[in-house]
Amino acid sequence: MKIHEELKKLATFSASENPSVTRILYTKEDLAARAYFISLCEEAGLKVTVDAIGNTFARWEGTQPELPAVATGSHIDAIPLSGQYDGTVGVLGSLEAIRYLKSINFVPKRSIEIILFTAEEPTRFFIGCLGSRMLSGQLQREAAEKLKDSNGLFLNDVRTTAGFTGDLNSVALSKDHYHAFVELHIEQGPRLEKEKIDIGIVTKIAAPSSLRLKLIGEGGHAGAVLMPIRKDAGVAGAEIMQTVERIALESKSEDTVATTGIFDILPRAVNSIPKEAYLEIDLRDTNIETRNKALDDLKKEVEAICKRRNIQYILEMVNCDPPAICDEELVNTVESVANELNYTSKKMVSHAYHDSLFMAQLFPTTMIFIPSKGGVSHRPDEYSSPEEIEKGVMTLALTLKEMVG
Ligand code: GLV
Ligand code: MN
Ligand code: MN
Repeated sequence: MKIHEELKKLATFSASENPSVTRILYTKEDLAARAYFISLCEEAGLKVTVDAIGNTFARWEGTQPELPAVATGSHIDAIPLSGQYDGTVGVLGSLEAIRYLKSINFVPKRSIEIILFTAEEPTRFFIGCLGSRMLSGQLQREAAEKLKDSNGLFLNDVRTTAGFTGDLNSVALSKDHYHAFVELHIEQGPRLEKEKIDIGIVTKIAAPSSLRLKLIGEGGHAGAVLMPIRKDAGVAGAEIMQTVERIALESKSEDTVATTGIFDILPRAVNSIPKEAYLEIDLRDTNIETRNKALDDLKKEVEAICKRRNIQYILEMVNCDPPAICDEELVNTVESVANELNYTSKKMVSHAYHDSLFMAQLFPTTMIFIPSKGGVSHRPDEYSSPEEIEKGVMTLALTLKEMVG
C-alpha cells in the first residue's frame, strides 16, 4: 500500500525534527501538509473543496450523487513534539481505502467524502476539534471570531491570511448532509496491543472539558518580602495542580482523568516572587455526572485556595462537551466486516476525544481503532506497524463499501 510512504512524507511537514512532528494550525507546515494531501486526492480522481475554516472535503462521486454521502476522515495537525500517526492514519487511510475500492472496480451508489478536519488539537486556539465543532454548529461565527492565539492574533485574521476567507457561518452542516461518518484512528492506549486484538470498534467517546485559570498575586523581592505577607501566585498554582490530580484520583469513576498540561509563572526570575500564574487544565470522564462533579469540586477548591492565599483569579471554562454515543448499527457493521476479514475485534470506549465526538452529534458515527505500540501517543515514539495500519484501512474500506451500497 502507498500509505506507508505517504505517512512518512507527511511527517516531513513539521516544525520539529523527525521523528517528532509539530504541525500547528495555519502554520506553513500545516498549509504544506494540506497541499500535499490535496495533491494526492486529485491524483486519485477526487474532487476537493475547502470551507471557511479550512475543513477539506475530497469527494468520490457515487452513481446517486443526490443521496447524502458517507463521510470518513480525521485530522493532520499535530501537537508540539508529537508523533506521526495520530489523525494522519485516518486521513491518508481514508484515501487508501478509496484507492482500494477503485482498484477492485467497485462503483459506489452514495458518494464517499474524506474530511480533513481543521485543528482537532487545541494547540493554537486552546479549543479542541475546532473544525468539527464548527461543522456540528456547536461553535458559531461570533464565538469563533473571538478566539485568540497566544500571540494575541485573532482566529479570523490568521485564517484569512492562510487563505480561508469564506463566511464562518457557512461551515455548519445540517443533519441530513451525510448519511453516516466513520473515523479510522490509532487507539492511543494499550488495550488492543495487550489483548492482541486487531481492530477496536468505538461505542462511546469520553466527555472532555478544559479550563484556563489566571492567578494574580503580588510579586516582590525573593529575599526582602518575608513569608507571612506573601501573595505567591506560583505556589497557589502548584497547590491547584496537586488538587487537580487529587480530584481525579478520588473520583468515584475510574475513567475520570485530570491534567494540568500548562503551568506558567511570571516574571520567571529566581529571585522574584511569582506575581502571576497561568494554568490550563484538561478534565474528562466517560460518565458526564462524575465529570461534572469533578469540575464543580475543582471550582470550589480553586476558590478556597485563592481565598486562603489572598490571590485574585479568573477562571474560564473553555469547553465542556458531552460524551458521544456511537451508532449501534454502524458498530455492528464494522464488527461483521472485521469478522469477514478474519481480524480479531473488540468494542471499546475512547478515552481520547476525536472529531467523531462532534460528527456524532449530527450523524450516525463510529470509529475504527488500530493498536498503538506500548499505548504511546502524543509522543515522537508513537507507532503502529504497517500490518496494523493495513488492517485498519481494509476494515474501513469494506465498511465504506457496505455503507454506500
Ligand atoms: C485529542 O488529541 C485528545 O486530546 O484527546
Ligand atoms: Mn491527538
Ligand atoms: Mn487524533
